[in-house]
Amino acid sequence: MIHESRATEVGVQLKAPMVKSHYILPSDDSEITRLNLQNQLLTREVCDGKLIFAPAELEHGEQVLESGTGTGIWLLSLAETIPPTISFTGIDIHTRLFPQEFPSNVSFIQRSITNLPAEWTERFKIVNQRLLIGGLTRKEWKKAIQEIHRVLVPGGWLQCIEPNIPLKTDIGPHTERMFAAVRDLLAKNGLVHDIVEVLGRKLSKTGFTNVQTHTVSLSAHRHEEEFNHRTLMEWFFLALKPGILAQKLLQSEEEFGELMQNMLKEWDESPQVAWSWSVVYAQKRENNVGTAKFCIYM
Ligand SMILES: C[S@@+](CC[C@H](N)C(=O)[O-])C[C@H]1O[C@@H](n2cnc3c(N)ncnc32)[C@H](O)[C@@H]1O
Repeated sequence: MIHESRATEVGVQLKAPMVKSHYILPSDDSEITRLNLQNQLLTREVCDGKLIFAPAELEHGEQVLESGTGTGIWLLSLAETIPPTISFTGIDIHTRLFPQEFPSNVSFIQRSITNLPAEWTERFKIVNQRLLIGGLTRKEWKKAIQEIHRVLVPGGWLQCIEPNIPLKTDIGPHTERMFAAVRDLLAKNGLVHDIVEVLGRKLSKTGFTNVQTHTVSLSAHRHEEEFNHRTLMEWFFLALKPGILAQKLLQSEEEFGELMQNMLKEWDESPQVAWSWSVVYAQKRENNVGTAKFCIYM
């Protein structure tokens, strides 16, 4: 599935080539609800309640970039908690999920992370990117990481959050089948199911230092709370349904619905059912220019 869109800034036209994408999730009203609830759950359960999990500190005048910002919920939540002297830029290939109202130190731009403006070199202290597993091919991940490295200031931090898609689940045949359909959908679109492992390797190769992975396993067993990890996973599969049917990985709405019901029944019968998420974070090396000068004058 290829979407094409031209890069534009809210109010400003940026000269950039057409953006090509393999993105497999929808950009509609139900996706807005899903992403906003997902933000709450991931922040609370995976990031210990912190919007910035990496050990990065922001100072007046510094800038933050979010790649694949979607509804901008992460940026807007962070902007509420820190001084307006810090500015925020959210980029996304689609504008449909962008918020209508936001503070003046926040901007949203239609742009792919694989092709950032030349003038952004060494501009951002923090780059946040969540859930691009459904959007970037292996080659695009390489380019995205290079672009993120370029636009970070020396000493700046990248933080990514991605799910771990298991190769084997041990929960039951219906769960196996659903995850197999998800892995096939990713593969058919050239996307990477084991992105957490790939990220760790690629970040080090691109020159990042202090590469860390923090993985949390969350129960998906039935739970009292209205919105929980089980609901999030259920919505995730529902969001992938159009892609799964379009690729004929399941033959009909009925087959999908039946599989979903049977899978959730397996989850009800398996108190140990849990899926894991990882925060992968890494730092761009500090500039050693100051130290070198010091040595010259010694
Ligand atoms: C699953 S959503 C996550 C949104 C947001 N990061 C969050 O956590 O709420 C992924 C977003 O990445 C965007 N996206 C996909 N490919 C992209 C690319 N090449 N560059 C920038 N954004 C991209 C999609 O349009 C979508 O809004």
